[in-house]
Amino acid sequence: MMHLLSFSLLFNVVSFHYVNTFSKRYTYVSFGIEPIQHSGNCDLFVGDWVPDPLGPVYSNESCHVIIPGRNCMKNGSPDSGYLYWRWKPRDCEIPRFNGARFLEMMRDKSWGFIGDSIARNHVQSLFCILSKVEAADEVYYDEEDRPIRWYFPSYNFTLAVIWSPLLLKAAISEDKHGVSSSDIQLHLDKLDEQWTHEYQNFNYVTISGGKWFLKTAIYHYNDTIVGCHYCSSHGNLTEFGYDKAYRQAIKLVFNFIIKSNHSAVVLFRTTTPSHFENGEWFSGGTCNRRMPYKEGEIRVDNVDSAMHDIELEEFNIAITTFGFKTREKLKLLDTTQLSSLRPDGHPDNNAIVQNDCLHWCLPGPIDSWNDLILEMLMHECLTDISRYMLRTCYI
Ligand SMILES: *[C@@H]1O[C@H](CO)[C@@H](O)[C@H](O)[C@H]1NC(C)=O
Ligand SMILES: *[C@@H]1O[C@H](CO)[C@@H](O)[C@H](O)[C@H]1NC(C)=O
Ligand SMILES: *[C@@H]1O[C@H](CO)[C@@H](O)[C@H](O)[C@H]1NC(C)=O
Ligand SMILES: *[C@@H]1O[C@H](CO)[C@@H](O)[C@H](O)[C@H]1NC(C)=O
Ligand SMILES: *[C@@H]1O[C@H](CO)[C@@H](O)[C@H](O)[C@H]1NC(C)=O
Repeated sequence: MMHLLSFSLLFNVVSFHYVNTFSKRYTYVSFGIEPIQHSGNCDLFVGDWVPDPLGPVYSNESCHVIIPGRNCMKNGSPDSGYLYWRWKPRDCEIPRFNGARFLEMMRDKSWGFIGDSIARNHVQSLFCILSKVEAADEVYYDEEDRPIRWYFPSYNFTLAVIWSPLLLKAAISEDKHGVSSSDIQLHLDKLDEQWTHEYQNFNYVTISGGKWFLKTAIYHYNDTIVGCHYCSSHGNLTEFGYDKAYRQAIKLVFNFIIKSNHSAVVLFRTTTPSHFENGEWFSGGTCNRRMPYKEGEIRVDNVDSAMHDIELEEFNIAITTFGFKTREKLKLLDTTQLSSLRPDGHPDNNAIVQNDCLHWCLPGPIDSWNDLILEMLMHECLTDISRYMLRTCYI
């Protein structure tokens, strides 16, 4: 278990300096569902958390899928201050999530969330929000009895989550507490069929990766071992670099999506930051701040920011190499920086195994990711390519 997240030992906390070489300009257009609320330039992912007296749209009582480790209203924070903030982009407002509107847009459609436990965290947030509008049927469970597919009958909308923490083909032997009996065998040239086989079943896909690439793993390419990560116990194997493996995974994911004949709208969600302080996850690190950081005040692990850089670079390569059609299909849901401002929204020491400063409370800051998704659904990019802001080009 020591190597589960022991990457953290390697990190220095550095100030997070965000450099984006691409133009931050795009223009909203409405497609008629509601009047244009704002015009001009607005980067949805740059802004601040502002006080929100209304609080979350759901509670631990209204939503029954919240697992104990995320139920901070019951087990967590000594105060409920973390519930009363909303994300405010610097140059525009995003409206409060409207579950009925979202479900109306999703009529006869399906949405798949692909990734690790943060993807599960995210889908549960969306599920809880939508449950206020309609109770869904749980239609399918995984081997640990967790629902992985829901159906909203009056909207004929299916919501699903697919467990694929590395997105690549991998042999993983890990129990539900994260204790592994042998190292991960990761194939850097093959995607995980768990998700590629299901891809064509979805109209919308949210896909994400990240933290699992920091675990001890043996890397394979063309069925030959090419190195490993955290290899000290493997004598003659050489360190390959988690960053190279992560970059390769994202490249393959984007290539698959671009080449696929299936026309899903895909949101690539960027890596989620953790907030351990005064130690690491295994050495008593905590996250007991009670307030969001202000813009510019944040400190992000350099591993989080390295992963985020890789994601933006590969996204921009995909978009610029493959052009306009890709842009319509592949969007960036760039939640890293705004989430890094929320050290106050984690379950912390309410988790069963160890302090949890990585996953998010439900309700909690992760709900804002859905506000952004709905906002992205509501607006479109202008087709004037010179004015595209690549990572916020809209559906
Ligand atoms: C919800 O949280 C409250 C405290 O805010 C607690 O009293 C209650 O038991 C919780 N309910 C559930 C179902 O977790
Ligand atoms: C539900 O949606 C699917 C497409 O996702 C469609 O094929 C099916 O006909 C719809 N069912 C009803 C009852 O409208
Ligand atoms: C993969 O390995 C096979 C033999 O096992 C070899 O014939 C082939 O050229 C290799 N392909 C690449 C891309 O290295
Ligand atoms: C590592 O060494 C063992 C023998 O000590 C050998 O069987 C194996 O092929 C070596 N692996 C690599 C990748 O060189
Ligand atoms: C997409 O469709 C074209 C033409 O029908 C076909 O040649 C190609 O193999 C398909 N690609 C994939 C990835 O299925």
